[in-house]
Amino acid sequence: MKMVRWAVFASIIAGVGVAMAGTTIYSGSEKVNTLVIDASRGTSTIEPEIYGHFAEHLGRCVYEGFWVGEDSAIPNVRGIRTDVVEALKKLNIPVLRWPGGCFADEYHWKDGIGPRDKRPKMVNTHWGMVTETNAFGTHEFLDLCEMLGCEAYIAGNVGSGTVEELQDWIEYMTFDGDSEMANLRRTNGREKPWKIKYVGVGNENWGCGGNMTPEYYSDVYKRYATYVRNYPGSRITRVACGPNGEDMKWAESIMKNIGTRMDAYGQHYYVRGLGSWDQGKKGSATNFDEREWFALMKNTLHVDNLIRENKKIMDRYDPRGRVDLYIDEYGTWWDEEPGTKGGFLYQQNTLRDAVSAAIYLNTFNNHSDRVKMCNIAQINNVLQAMILTDKEKMLLTPTYHVFELFKVHQGAALLVSELACNGYQSGNDTLPSLNVSASKNKAGVIHITLANLDPTVPAELTCELKGVTAKSVRGRVLTDEKMNAHNTFEKPDAVKPAEFKAFELKDGTLHATLPSKSVVLLTIE
Ligand code: AHR
Repeated sequence: MKMVRWAVFASIIAGVGVAMAGTTIYSGSEKVNTLVIDASRGTSTIEPEIYGHFAEHLGRCVYEGFWVGEDSAIPNVRGIRTDVVEALKKLNIPVLRWPGGCFADEYHWKDGIGPRDKRPKMVNTHWGMVTETNAFGTHEFLDLCEMLGCEAYIAGNVGSGTVEELQDWIEYMTFDGDSEMANLRRTNGREKPWKIKYVGVGNENWGCGGNMTPEYYSDVYKRYATYVRNYPGSRITRVACGPNGEDMKWAESIMKNIGTRMDAYGQHYYVRGLGSWDQGKKGSATNFDEREWFALMKNTLHVDNLIRENKKIMDRYDPRGRVDLYIDEYGTWWDEEPGTKGGFLYQQNTLRDAVSAAIYLNTFNNHSDRVKMCNIAQINNVLQAMILTDKEKMLLTPTYHVFELFKVHQGAALLVSELACNGYQSGNDTLPSLNVSASKNKAGVIHITLANLDPTVPAELTCELKGVTAKSVRGRVLTDEKMNAHNTFEKPDAVKPAEFKAFELKDGTLHATLPSKSVVLLTIE
């Protein structure tokens, strides 16, 4: 059988003994896709933080999405809406990044503490020039994290804030002793410090966070990070601003100049279809054809190349792997929904976004030797959201359902998988039609997550598991007849996972038929 390596982009995905999915595309006529998983040994741990989220003071993400205020008719606990928190708890959210994004570098945290009616107002210059009331500040955010049971990832203000301001914030949140900041926290109602696990030293400092060069940012990083102190009992992971998309010069420079003085850096990578990044030209979230679908799949698969490029640089400067790679902003970015406020980045979310999310998450799992945290943008009402709200109404997006299906990988050991699949073709371009990752949890249960990228052709799959004898298999699937299937406030359950039954376990080998444009979870015991 003649096979070709997938070489759509500069690098090739090939199983080479490290923790990655090896993918080969068949040439010629269609064949049965084959997947071989070595279940005898796990490789890297899939850190739960790979399934992280991001909330910014942008549009209706925080206000309306989380914060409705204590006096709202919408059921809430201390001002935070209950329906959203309850839905998000089902995702086992490991970490939440806040308060931005671009907003972070103009946020002054002292405006967001103390009695709410006395908090100063500011203009949110990045996002719609709306008035920010500061009603949702440090205490409200950390209360939310406690409700969700997740770690906090604070993005510090480096672009327009001072070193002293950042140092004070850390002392305010994490110092247990007698100090001005710790006592101010107590005055505001919180006796004990919070545990802050992650602090970002700025956000997109190559752009909205100060338009810096990587060399200049490296010095600025070192200065600010010095004062992100570990008070007794606290251990903060310091995160530097990483590159935008392809800008590997930024990665190279910060690895050279900051190196192991940072614990991690955060790459950002947003995707769209054939549109441009211009306002109003990114393409519609719901109204698209198959060429647009294909382009999104191709652009999403490209994250694999970006991670490889980052890894090459990181391996050169940090062969012992002390600096982690985060993808702390990613996801689909479409034109704002017609009729919604400009600058609020509100978009619908279809099955296409769901398949893209599955590719992202499989890729992160497969690179979990270096990729330790990822934060999809954003959690509510902005970009590739989990949840959309309309006053008291709320719906779960297809992307939410992917996160719910994939949560089984959190904390599990990555298994090496080798996939040989048919190509998915458009013009002269060919992509692998399937995308996969697999893991084994502490109880020995194996989970395989697959995406069928082809929107018209179902995939016959034979899956061989090496090193275990499968006794039982269960499956769940997310799919629909239409590429643009999505949930609305009128039909909030139009797209949701169903039981997957199109498989058979025969002599230890699994035979399955994956519907076109689908995401499938297989659980094997
Ligand atoms: O997620 C929206 C914006 O995208 C963030 O504020 C910024 O960091 C990025 O450019």
